[in-house]
Amino acid sequence: MSATVLAARGIEVRFGGVRALRGVDLEVRPGQIVGLIGPNGAGKTTFVDAVTGFVPSTGSVAIDGHEVSHQRPHARVRAGLSRTWQGVELFDDLTVAENLAVAARRLSLRSTVRDMTGRRSGDMSAIHDTLQDVGISELAEAFPTELSEGQRKLVGIARSFAARPKILCLDEPAAGLDTTESAHLGTQLRRLGDQGTPMLLIDHDISFVFGTCDHVVVLEFGQVIASGEPKVVRSDPRVIAAYLGQDAAPDDEKDQT
Ligand SMILES: Nc1ncnc2c1ncn2[C@@H]1O[C@H](COP(=O)(O)OP(=O)(O)O)[C@@H](O)[C@H]1O
Ligand SMILES: [Mg+2]
Repeated sequence: MSATVLAARGIEVRFGGVRALRGVDLEVRPGQIVGLIGPNGAGKTTFVDAVTGFVPSTGSVAIDGHEVSHQRPHARVRAGLSRTWQGVELFDDLTVAENLAVAARRLSLRSTVRDMTGRRSGDMSAIHDTLQDVGISELAEAFPTELSEGQRKLVGIARSFAARPKILCLDEPAAGLDTTESAHLGTQLRRLGDQGTPMLLIDHDISFVFGTCDHVVVLEFGQVIASGEPKVVRSDPRVIAAYLGQDAAPDDEKDQT
């Protein structure tokens, strides 16, 4: 295995006249959960869109040493790069396990249909393993409408995790969760990370990011302004300045006036 699971270098994205990303470098190493934070509009989602191939960018992206910069999104998924989206769309008339089966359709349509007719198969047991890894095996037969927002997020993560990606990119997985739910989510992510799935974790709840990640990268106006261990980044004056007056500021640092 190469030393770097995700190596993004010099990533640039323009939307018309807006330079949304200006030469962003970011690395995720084996076993690491790397946090990506920054004020609204800093370019966090654009960065995930660029590395996963959903927006055109320049610079280079390598997954486990393989250059994927010129590949389309599905090819990057095959290379081991998986992502979640800001909203979790699930099929309401399918169970949680069936939702994962549909998502894993690269297994082949026939095996998916066979799974859905209820026959035992290696594929279905892999889905149950995934649900177990994410800590929601008791939800396998539940329908999405029966789930809390926190549970839906975990199903969304399980769905991206089912492909056993080399790296998982999570865009604001804690958005809309209450404190208890986001603490639970953080614990589950940490466990998946410790079991060997590296992640890139975006969130504007920076306590959640600082509490979950090994390394944090801070973006402002499309540029990296700080990068390092949570405790170092947290006290960086540029980071504090970038957050002051922002909704995303931590409560103890927020300007209350
Ligand atoms: N599809 C788009 N077209 C034009 N501008 C965009 C588009 N997506 C994002 N932007 C702009 O790029 C910048 C970064 O946005 P985004 O990556 O969504 O920020 P974040 O996720 O950090 O809040 C913002 O100025 C935003 O308005
Ligand atoms: Mg965003």
